Amino acid sequence: MKSILAKDYQIHFSDYAYAELNKMIENTAISKLFIIADKNTLAFCYPRLKEKLSINKTVEILEIGIGENQKTIETCEQLWIKLCDLQADRSALILNLGGGIVSDLGGFVAATLKRGIRFINIPTTLLGMVDAAIGGKTGINLGALKNQVGAFYNPSMIVIDTAYLKTLPPREFRSGMSEILKYGLSYDENLYQLIKAYTETDFVTLEKLIYRSIEIKNEVVLKDPQEQNLRKVLNFGHSLGHAIESLFLSKLEENHITHGEAVAAGMVLAAHLSSQYLGFSLEKTAEIKCHIQKYFGQIELLKPDYHLILNLLKHDKKAESGCVKFVLITQIGRFKLNCEVGETAIIKALDYYNT
Ligand code: GLY
Repeated sequence: MKSILAKDYQIHFSDYAYAELNKMIENTAISKLFIIADKNTLAFCYPRLKEKLSINKTVEILEIGIGENQKTIETCEQLWIKLCDLQADRSALILNLGGGIVSDLGGFVAATLKRGIRFINIPTTLLGMVDAAIGGKTGINLGALKNQVGAFYNPSMIVIDTAYLKTLPPREFRSGMSEILKYGLSYDENLYQLIKAYTETDFVTLEKLIYRSIEIKNEVVLKDPQEQNLRKVLNFGHSLGHAIESLFLSKLEENHITHGEAVAAGMVLAAHLSSQYLGFSLEKTAEIKCHIQKYFGQIELLKPDYHLILNLLKHDKKAESGCVKFVLITQIGRFKLNCEVGETAIIKALDYYNT
């Protein structure tokens, strides 16, 4: 697959990506090479990366724990200390091997250490490949509130190798599909049609879905890197999705949901809000709901939790003076930014989701 040029770095694919990665490590002045990985990616993905790396440099592995609760300032501190102990200087390079948690956290550690060292994302999850690893958003959570602290800081390269997807549990794979669906619903109807045609064993279509999603994400980020305007489209389904995800993160019991499952529910809600405010077809809303609930399952959104969801929504980092502006759609693939939405409409959408 043809490489995609981002702002000042390239997104490379498959074996060509490793050739470019090896070239960069060997030919540029890199004092120390580090890999940030979690327990799973270390066990299941690092063997492949190791085989593909043909370099004459020692690699220091920095392992982090698994899960969203690793995206904290404490984990950052541990990594900063380890990196300093291992003499990371401003010419060091970090390879982030993992999903969105690793690239968000590892990117933030790179952005802040010594006021910024280089890093490369090697996403191992579908969500990482089509969204999190691309576009320079790095960051960590603040308690149950997601991505409240962070920086826009670009990687030096992105390596996309779909072979890593074979190591992914089905639920995590589906989580990534919700971001692909986001691009289809809000930005590109042809992509939406391709998603509908996709079946789980169809690797050729999957590669097309990934490539097109990366193209869209890159196109949007190039036009609006710091989310002043257009980039907000990438939040379709995310305002309520993040609130739902935070709700489940804050619950003590272990029934956590994936980011993708929360965003998928958020997209049903956004579709319903679109029908309430912008005349988006109710028939299409029902089609989206049916597709999403079949593919991602139904999250239990209890009536007593509605007010918690509305409260969490106010903490959305995109909120301005406590008012969240939504991305809604007028048709599939046609978005409208900055839509003001009332609480009654949100409750109506939640009731619709639950019917
Ligand atoms: N994941 C949304 C963005 O990168 O803007």
